[in-house]
Amino acid sequence: MNDLYLTLHVIGAVAWVGASTLFHITGRRVVAANDQQSLRQFFRDGEYFSTRYFIPVALLTVAMGVALVLSDKYLEFSDPFVSMGLTMFIVSFVMGAGFLGPQTGKLLKRLDAGEFETPAVQSQVKRVLTVSSIELLLLWATVVVMVVKPG
Ligand code: HEM
Repeated sequence: MNDLYLTLHVIGAVAWVGASTLFHITGRRVVAANDQQSLRQFFRDGEYFSTRYFIPVALLTVAMGVALVLSDKYLEFSDPFVSMGLTMFIVSFVMGAGFLGPQTGKLLKRLDAGEFETPAVQSQVKRVLTVSSIELLLLWATVVVMVVKPG
Protein backbone atom coordinates (compact mmCIF):
# COMPACT_ATOMS: atom_id res chain seq x y z
CA MET A 1 0.00 0.00 0.00
CA ASN A 2 1.36 3.41 -0.95
CA ASP A 3 2.02 5.16 2.38
CA LEU A 4 2.06 8.63 0.83
CA TYR A 5 -1.42 8.15 -0.73
CA LEU A 6 -2.76 6.62 2.49
CA THR A 7 -1.30 9.43 4.63
CA LEU A 8 -2.74 12.14 2.35
CA HIS A 9 -6.06 10.24 2.19
CA VAL A 10 -6.34 10.08 6.00
CA ILE A 11 -5.21 13.75 6.35
CA GLY A 12 -7.97 14.71 3.89
CA ALA A 13 -10.52 12.57 5.75
CA VAL A 14 -9.53 14.03 9.17
CA ALA A 15 -9.65 17.60 7.83
CA TRP A 16 -13.06 16.96 6.20
CA VAL A 17 -14.79 15.02 8.99
CA GLY A 18 -13.27 17.06 11.84
CA ALA A 19 -14.17 20.45 10.35
CA SER A 20 -17.66 19.25 9.34
CA THR A 21 -18.27 18.12 12.93
CA LEU A 22 -17.13 21.41 14.48
CA PHE A 23 -19.03 23.48 11.88
CA HIS A 24 -22.21 21.53 12.58
CA ILE A 25 -21.89 21.95 16.38
CA THR A 26 -21.28 25.69 15.85
CA GLY A 27 -24.38 25.86 13.64
CA ARG A 28 -26.53 24.26 16.33
CA ARG A 29 -25.16 26.73 18.94
CA VAL A 30 -25.85 29.73 16.65
CA VAL A 31 -29.40 28.57 15.86
CA ALA A 32 -30.09 27.94 19.58
CA ALA A 33 -28.87 31.48 20.36
CA ASN A 34 -31.52 32.78 17.90
CA ASP A 35 -29.45 35.89 17.06
CA GLN A 36 -29.78 37.37 13.54
CA GLN A 37 -26.22 38.75 13.30
CA SER A 38 -24.57 35.48 14.41
CA LEU A 39 -26.79 33.45 12.08
CA ARG A 40 -25.96 35.67 9.13
CA GLN A 41 -22.21 35.44 9.92
CA PHE A 42 -22.47 31.65 10.29
CA PHE A 43 -24.01 31.24 6.83
CA ARG A 44 -21.45 33.68 5.36
CA ASP A 45 -18.70 31.50 6.85
CA GLY A 46 -20.45 28.47 5.34
CA GLU A 47 -20.30 30.04 1.88
CA TYR A 48 -16.66 31.09 2.42
CA PHE A 49 -15.39 27.68 3.66
CA SER A 50 -17.40 25.49 1.26
CA THR A 51 -15.37 26.49 -1.83
CA ARG A 52 -12.07 27.35 -0.06
CA TYR A 53 -11.91 24.43 2.41
CA PHE A 54 -14.56 21.70 2.27
CA ILE A 55 -14.48 21.07 -1.50
CA PRO A 56 -10.62 20.95 -1.66
CA VAL A 57 -10.31 18.52 1.31
CA ALA A 58 -13.13 16.32 -0.03
CA LEU A 59 -11.39 16.21 -3.43
CA LEU A 60 -8.03 15.39 -1.76
CA THR A 61 -9.68 12.54 0.20
CA VAL A 62 -11.31 10.98 -2.84
CA ALA A 63 -8.33 11.54 -5.20
CA MET A 64 -5.95 9.84 -2.77
CA GLY A 65 -8.52 7.07 -2.17
CA VAL A 66 -8.68 6.40 -5.90
CA ALA A 67 -4.87 6.54 -6.13
CA LEU A 68 -4.66 3.95 -3.34
CA VAL A 69 -6.93 1.55 -5.23
CA LEU A 70 -5.18 2.08 -8.58
CA SER A 71 -1.72 1.63 -7.04
CA ASP A 72 -2.53 -1.57 -5.11
CA LYS A 73 -3.15 -4.86 -6.97
CA TYR A 74 -5.09 -6.28 -3.98
CA LEU A 75 -7.65 -3.46 -3.99
CA GLU A 76 -10.64 -3.15 -6.35
CA PHE A 77 -13.24 -0.42 -6.76
CA SER A 78 -15.76 -3.25 -6.24
CA ASP A 79 -14.44 -3.83 -2.68
CA PRO A 80 -17.44 -2.96 -0.44
CA PHE A 81 -15.55 -0.40 1.68
CA VAL A 82 -14.20 1.32 -1.43
CA SER A 83 -17.57 1.48 -3.19
CA MET A 84 -19.13 2.76 0.06
CA GLY A 85 -16.43 5.44 0.26
CA LEU A 86 -17.09 6.50 -3.32
CA THR A 87 -20.85 6.49 -2.79
CA MET A 88 -20.46 8.61 0.32
CA PHE A 89 -18.27 11.10 -1.51
CA ILE A 90 -20.89 11.43 -4.28
CA VAL A 91 -23.81 11.72 -1.79
CA SER A 92 -21.98 14.37 0.25
CA PHE A 93 -21.08 16.31 -2.91
CA VAL A 94 -24.70 16.26 -4.12
CA MET A 95 -25.98 17.29 -0.65
CA GLY A 96 -23.47 20.12 -0.51
CA ALA A 97 -23.62 21.44 -4.10
CA GLY A 98 -27.29 20.48 -4.68
CA PHE A 99 -28.89 21.57 -1.41
CA LEU A 100 -26.77 23.06 1.40
CA GLY A 101 -24.93 25.53 -0.85
CA PRO A 102 -28.01 26.94 -2.67
CA GLN A 103 -30.07 26.98 0.56
CA THR A 104 -27.32 28.93 2.34
CA GLY A 105 -27.31 31.50 -0.47
CA LYS A 106 -31.12 31.86 -0.36
CA LEU A 107 -31.11 32.15 3.45
CA LEU A 108 -28.48 34.88 3.37
CA LYS A 109 -30.61 36.86 0.91
CA ARG A 110 -33.68 36.49 3.15
CA LEU A 111 -31.71 37.44 6.28
CA ASP A 112 -30.33 40.50 4.46
CA ALA A 113 -33.96 41.36 3.57
CA GLY A 114 -34.80 41.33 7.31
CA GLU A 115 -36.92 38.13 7.22
CA PHE A 116 -35.13 36.58 10.23
CA GLU A 117 -38.28 36.21 12.40
CA THR A 118 -40.52 34.80 9.64
CA PRO A 119 -41.69 31.17 10.05
CA ALA A 120 -40.43 30.46 6.50
CA VAL A 121 -36.85 31.41 7.39
CA GLN A 122 -37.01 29.61 10.75
CA SER A 123 -38.18 26.37 9.09
CA GLN A 124 -35.61 26.76 6.27
CA VAL A 125 -32.82 27.02 8.90
CA LYS A 126 -34.13 23.85 10.58
CA ARG A 127 -34.19 22.02 7.22
CA VAL A 128 -30.57 22.99 6.51
CA LEU A 129 -29.51 21.75 9.97
CA THR A 130 -31.36 18.44 9.44
CA VAL A 131 -29.73 17.78 6.06
CA SER A 132 -26.33 18.76 7.47
CA SER A 133 -26.87 16.28 10.38
CA ILE A 134 -27.60 13.48 7.90
CA GLU A 135 -24.49 14.34 5.88
CA LEU A 136 -22.35 14.37 9.04
CA LEU A 137 -23.69 10.96 10.16
CA LEU A 138 -22.88 9.53 6.71
CA LEU A 139 -19.34 10.96 6.90
CA TRP A 140 -18.79 9.32 10.30
CA ALA A 141 -20.26 6.07 9.01
CA THR A 142 -17.74 6.16 6.15
CA VAL A 143 -14.84 6.42 8.61
CA VAL A 144 -16.18 3.35 10.42
CA VAL A 145 -16.50 1.48 7.09
CA MET A 146 -12.94 2.47 6.10
CA VAL A 147 -11.51 1.08 9.37
CA VAL A 148 -13.73 -2.03 9.69
CA LYS A 149 -13.76 -2.79 5.92
CA PRO A 150 -16.98 -4.93 5.96
CA GLY A 151 -17.53 -7.63 3.30
C1 HEM B 1 -15.92 10.27 2.86
C2 HEM B 1 -14.98 9.72 2.28
C3 HEM B 1 -13.87 8.90 2.95
C4 HEM B 1 -13.40 8.92 4.22
C5 HEM B 1 -13.85 9.78 5.37
C6 HEM B 1 -12.31 7.94 4.28
C7 HEM B 1 -11.56 7.66 5.43
C8 HEM B 1 -10.57 6.70 5.47
C9 HEM B 1 -9.81 6.36 6.66
C10 HEM B 1 -9.98 7.03 8.02
C11 HEM B 1 -8.95 5.37 6.34
C12 HEM B 1 -7.90 4.68 7.26
C13 HEM B 1 -8.47 3.40 7.73
C14 HEM B 1 -7.43 2.52 8.41
O1 HEM B 1 -6.25 2.80 8.29
O2 HEM B 1 -7.85 1.55 9.04
C15 HEM B 1 -9.18 5.06 4.95
C16 HEM B 1 -8.48 4.10 4.28
C17 HEM B 1 -8.68 3.85 2.96
N1 HEM B 1 -9.57 4.47 2.11
FE1 HEM B 1 -10.90 5.87 2.59
N2 HEM B 1 -12.17 7.35 3.07
C18 HEM B 1 -13.11 7.93 2.22
C19 HEM B 1 -13.31 7.68 0.90
C20 HEM B 1 -12.58 6.76 0.18
C21 HEM B 1 -12.71 6.53 -1.24
C22 HEM B 1 -13.68 7.29 -2.13
C23 HEM B 1 -11.82 5.56 -1.57
C24 HEM B 1 -11.53 4.93 -2.90
C25 HEM B 1 -11.94 5.33 -4.04
C26 HEM B 1 -11.12 5.18 -0.35
C27 HEM B 1 -10.13 4.23 -0.28
C28 HEM B 1 -9.44 3.90 0.87
C29 HEM B 1 -8.41 2.87 0.92
C30 HEM B 1 -7.95 2.00 -0.24
C31 HEM B 1 -7.94 2.83 2.23
C32 HEM B 1 -6.82 1.93 2.81
C33 HEM B 1 -7.47 0.73 3.37
C34 HEM B 1 -6.44 -0.19 4.03
O3 HEM B 1 -5.76 0.26 4.96
O4 HEM B 1 -6.38 -1.34 3.61
N3 HEM B 1 -11.60 5.93 0.70
N4 HEM B 1 -10.17 5.89 4.45
